[in-house]
Amino acid sequence: MSKRVLLIIGGGIAAYKSLDLIRRLREQGVSVRVVMTEAAQRFVTPLAAGAIAGERVFTDLFDQAQEFDVGHIRLARECDLIIVAPATADFMAKTAHGLANDLASAVLLATDKPVLMAPAMNPHMWSNSATRRNFATLQAQGLRFVGPNEGEMAESGERGVGRMAEPLEIRDTAMALLNDGPLKGKRALVTAGPTIEAIDPVRFLSNRSSGKQGYAIAAALAELGAEVTLVSGPTNLPAPAGVKRVDIESAREMLEASEAALPLDVAVMVAAVADWRPTNEAKGKIKKGAAGVPTIALQENPDILATLSKLGKKRPKLVIGFAAETDDVEENARAKIAKKGCDWIVANDVSGDVMGGAENAVILITKDKAETWPRMAKQAVARKLAGEIAQALTTKAPRK
Ligand code: C5P
Repeated sequence: MSKRVLLIIGGGIAAYKSLDLIRRLREQGVSVRVVMTEAAQRFVTPLAAGAIAGERVFTDLFDQAQEFDVGHIRLARECDLIIVAPATADFMAKTAHGLANDLASAVLLATDKPVLMAPAMNPHMWSNSATRRNFATLQAQGLRFVGPNEGEMAESGERGVGRMAEPLEIRDTAMALLNDGPLKGKRALVTAGPTIEAIDPVRFLSNRSSGKQGYAIAAALAELGAEVTLVSGPTNLPAPAGVKRVDIESAREMLEASEAALPLDVAVMVAAVADWRPTNEAKGKIKKGAAGVPTIALQENPDILATLSKLGKKRPKLVIGFAAETDDVEENARAKIAKKGCDWIVANDVSGDVMGGAENAVILITKDKAETWPRMAKQAVARKLAGEIAQALTTKAPRK
């Protein structure tokens, strides 16, 4: 049977893009039923949306004909996925608080289907602490998000994060949610980004990891249907669609958040964990002056990869580490598998411009093979690795 989407169009200028989204979904054989809020109808008409969807549009909770005909409970249930695009700040706030005073919000409160929101709003509204709270609440409730992206705002010409994801991006995320991928039901952990280790309340030790490769892997695993927890150090990246992101700062917090994600089918440790931390974090800011230049004593951080690899019964079925090497890449990676107790190592040669760049050249090393992959975009590395993971987890004995 063909898949069914209920598209809720909210009241924002990005609503015009939702008309294209209807077309793009229908091109994939997905049937689209449309609900529009009152504000949405100021931007696009139900006639236009209905003509593209090929069926009438629903707008009113109190319209007797509409309620008798289909009704908000059936609208909420007779679909495989609900998409809200554009999801305005107001609509996110209403949903986060469980309000149900119009058709769109009543449908969302009544549904038991997965919900994908594509937020669109002015960058100041997106970064406002009220919206941040509502966003966190909705994420915790299991709603999925795509975007918002960075770019120029249609109304004001301002730049910043708040622009609705493009129709094709929303469609791709929706298709991934609609189609049960090979990793459906599997639990994955990805660590990403740097850790920062406090010296005093204002200073820290860290490194230059951008988090790009780890975020791409989390996104690729989610696209294949996995339930992904992304434990991330500070980065400038938005959480990928459909991924549960847990923000941490130090290696010890990363370890704690990683253990909290158990049980797991697969753990991919991409984070550039700081090797050392200051032994004593000064309570107050260390003063310049009389005492001269301070000496900072360091101690070793816990090794998260090794800890998860050696968990015994609770060990994830497949544990994958990364290794940044500059020479004897394969040999060093094999030694790392043995030392850490993980199953695979993805080794990258960082002698070039890989750190922070858009591309990566890696060798996948397992217990019995070493495969050199051509240099490609970090997203492509991520998809290829997710494919290998899916194969390993869906064949009977995980490939070692
Ligand atoms: O020992 P090295 O830092 O080269 O190992 C890199 C791999 O180990 C990466 O997968 C990294 O995420 C992981 N790692 C870790 N905890 C540490 C150090 C490294 O999980 N404290």
